[in-house]
Amino acid sequence: MAYKTKLLSVSDKDIGYAAKLLAEGEVVGIPTETVYGLAADAENAGAVKKIFEAKGRPQDNPLIVHLADVSQLEEYVCNIPEIAYKLAERFWPGPLTMVLPKRDRIPDVTSAGLDTVGIRIPYHEAARRLIKASGKALAAPSANLSGSPSPTSALHVMNDMNGRIPAVVDGGCCPVGVESTVISFENGKIRLLRPGFISAEELSEFGEVICDRHITEAAAEGEQVRSPGMKYKHYSPKANVTIIDGGREAYLDYVNSRGGEGVYAMPFDSDREYCKIPCIAYGDTSEEQAARLFAALREFDDIGAKQVYARCPSQNGVGLAVYNRLLRAAGFEIIKL
Ligand code: TXA
Ligand code: MG
Repeated sequence: MAYKTKLLSVSDKDIGYAAKLLAEGEVVGIPTETVYGLAADAENAGAVKKIFEAKGRPQDNPLIVHLADVSQLEEYVCNIPEIAYKLAERFWPGPLTMVLPKRDRIPDVTSAGLDTVGIRIPYHEAARRLIKASGKALAAPSANLSGSPSPTSALHVMNDMNGRIPAVVDGGCCPVGVESTVISFENGKIRLLRPGFISAEELSEFGEVICDRHITEAAAEGEQVRSPGMKYKHYSPKANVTIIDGGREAYLDYVNSRGGEGVYAMPFDSDREYCKIPCIAYGDTSEEQAARLFAALREFDDIGAKQVYARCPSQNGVGLAVYNRLLRAAGFEIIKL
């Protein structure tokens, strides 16, 4: 292990220390409203390479660049469509990432060789203070080891990154719990590349929204996708996850007859009292499920689960983001009752 990873607080002194590490080209785990990020100076190719190494991330998967203020947008991207300004006004700071043509100051390693870059302005207070204190645009993917569920607490980051990075800023649990909504633009239309807390329904007030097919369908081997992240198996705990799509009664009948060693249910909170096999519930509303999904998946690993039967979430609003993450955690294994 190269580093003795420090757990920092959000005090001015600790934020100042984290900002100094970032300015020196180091990688720091940072809280955001969505999930924890693994941040480095987006314009320092050497620093960004360290992110890919710490995560074990494929080199062809681009990073999101985080800014402190919308006034900086034109310094990093160009040919910004009118609709992007309207979305920025409505949703920034917040959990929305817009893919736009990049300027040359963003190195190829950050954009994984693409001529576009995803930009986001987080609203998390500590993240904003840190970006400002560092004086840098921060490239930050989710702070998990590649393939693992995204971290929603500093402890999750520590579990994955201890020894791999110099510091993690502990800003508590992430309120949103799933990664930002990622969109790009096509002839005045919005293409949804990754669903998140800002829903397709909300975006559609600003223009036509095209939901990319790969949000709910697996990409075939070697198939072209519009966002490299769509290719990879993601968010997977070590257990085999199966989604069970049916109403409460059908779901409970299914899981209650399948108990056994290492077999767990992941029901809604309101199913729990009827569940006869061990379970970790993940909420009733889509917002609760978003906030708790990744922590639940990590908990199944901690208790050594071998098989998890998850009740299928709604696909409306934020539910589409929960469904999209769970589908990938399940390797698209879904049983319709
Ligand atoms: O909420 C979030 O977005 C978190 C926090 C830390 O901000 N970050 C995050 O980053 O989830 P990451 O790297 O785990 O996911 C970024 C996704 C990937 O699926 C990537 O393929 C896609 O965004 N992406 C990034 N840049 C892109 C681009 N230029 N074109 C298409 N897709 C892009
Ligand atoms: Mg990620």
